[in-house]
Amino acid sequence: MCGIIGMVGVKNAIPYLMEGLSRLEYRGYDSAGIAFLNGNQLACKKALGKLENLRKTIQNDARNTNIGIGHTRWATHGKPSFDNAHPHISPNAKFAVVHNGIIENADSLKNEHFPNTSFASQTDTEVIVHLLQKYYNGNMVQTVSCVQKLLLGSYALGIISTEYPNTLFCTAKGSPLIAAVGEVGNFIASDVSAVFGYASGYYNLSNGEICAVQENDIKFFNNDAVCIEKQIEPIIADALINDKQSFEHYMMLEMMQQPDAVRNTLEPLFINGEMCLDSFVPDSHFLKNSLSKIVIVACGSAYHAGLVGERLFEDLARVETKAQIASEFRYSNPIINQNTLAIFISQSGETADTLAALRLAKLKNAKVLSIVNVRSSAIANESDYVIYTKAGREVAVATTKAYSSQLAVLYALSLYISKIRQSVEGEMYDGLIKQLLCLPQKISETIINTQSLVKCLAQHFYTQNDMYFIGRQLDFAVSMEGSLKCKEISYIHSESYAAGELKHGTISLIEQGTPVIAVATDETVIGKTVSNMREVEARGAKTVLVTFEKYKDCTDKSEVIVIPETASQFSASLSVIPLQFLSYYMAKLRGCDIDKPKNLAKSVTVE
Ligand code: G6P
Repeated sequence: MCGIIGMVGVKNAIPYLMEGLSRLEYRGYDSAGIAFLNGNQLACKKALGKLENLRKTIQNDARNTNIGIGHTRWATHGKPSFDNAHPHISPNAKFAVVHNGIIENADSLKNEHFPNTSFASQTDTEVIVHLLQKYYNGNMVQTVSCVQKLLLGSYALGIISTEYPNTLFCTAKGSPLIAAVGEVGNFIASDVSAVFGYASGYYNLSNGEICAVQENDIKFFNNDAVCIEKQIEPIIADALINDKQSFEHYMMLEMMQQPDAVRNTLEPLFINGEMCLDSFVPDSHFLKNSLSKIVIVACGSAYHAGLVGERLFEDLARVETKAQIASEFRYSNPIINQNTLAIFISQSGETADTLAALRLAKLKNAKVLSIVNVRSSAIANESDYVIYTKAGREVAVATTKAYSSQLAVLYALSLYISKIRQSVEGEMYDGLIKQLLCLPQKISETIINTQSLVKCLAQHFYTQNDMYFIGRQLDFAVSMEGSLKCKEISYIHSESYAAGELKHGTISLIEQGTPVIAVATDETVIGKTVSNMREVEARGAKTVLVTFEKYKDCTDKSEVIVIPETASQFSASLSVIPLQFLSYYMAKLRGCDIDKPKNLAKSVTVE
């Protein structure tokens, strides 16, 4: 959500700002803009919709400038519009600001400090430029320090001013922002990808730290404007190099990368063939004797991965476990304490609700472990323990390879705790570890074996208005992910249902030809799910069954998608693949913007 880029350097900053914005597009946006110094005046260009529109306005009016800030906006306060697009400029035209986050007290600040002022936009951001103008005292760092103390909420701010033609200012609290060191100048950005290739090292900003960036110098201050030192981190290339290669969409590339993502994620969790998580998790004494409850908290697909984890921690490790949606958890009064392991799952490591939920768990003394894909992200930084998924950079808004990597970590973690608690041992443990290590290969086979059949099925289904995904137990958790993918990228209304619950309402929605996709891999309940398929078929549904080879003959009325055999505990990693393909191909046939679905953002940094 909302991307920030800024540059001060020797060369014309505008091409760097535009390239940075295009690399931040994946975060989701509905308008964009840049501000720069044109001589001793501020100039601002904005456009609604895609970056292409902004590019056109700049082409018509190209400027050479050594300093500027840029922004992609995902609307929160105020609809997507020209006026609401960032940057915002102060009434005296001396300050320009871009903002990611939410200023929760924007209305009261407006009423208190500017009761008779009319604002040009409906945004929470505009009040910041008014405050900068009001409190400017000749020292910009002190002014930023003073203004940020008035702000409640989360923010990453990039600021330029006619008073400082060679300095870019920024500050961040609760929203991601980096300052980066480059050869042609220095940068600020929402993430490292925006400056990759131009910068060699970067600093993470947090806790209201303020930064003054010049062409050859970066200075840091705490929120009281006192100078501080910060540690520079190198920009690691392999985490960021990721072009679409020969694929039409990042989503397809990322689906194909799933075997490697899972292999790379599992690799550091094994030493000499033995699984060893000692350095990633609380000590074994705690896990064996004190651990009484696990909570798993996340949003979107990460929550769906958490639902799989919930089942495995209970079934294998025999620890009471609850998976919860972060936006619900953060406002609840959870029964957790020092004997609870609270697991937070996030691809971006930035999701605002997940971060807030993490802080609540810490307040209640739970041990906090996060499963995160982006290194040094806020969620990783604030956790007691981190296991990184090694999915590599994920660009498509709808996650695929990060979800698969999260599952792999949950499998490993549940087995590790099971062994310590002696709930799974001996042959069963060895057998499951063997199956776990085979998963990357099995995912490859699933991709090869299911892709073309699913592509054909998509031809039959893509014109539908509604679809249903059903399953029981772990298969239900997967069907939730399949249904979310369908909604996210193909914009087909879909619901997932615990198969046995269908007859308590949803079955009344089944009509002639309604697609019902059943995931059924669990031997203990497959017969029940097949009966539920019969019930919807009797009412006209067109059913598809995703299952193992050995169960493929349990229906003769459905299309069957066969996935390779694996331990039933790990079936989600395989059954999700055809569901991802189905949503992809239906979205393609419907002409949807697959990598950047409308209204969605990759990183949801506001609640
Ligand atoms: C957004 C993305 C989803 C993702 C969810 C949680 O909604 O579109 O793909 O699952 O956020 O994001 P996180 O980065 O915390 O995993």
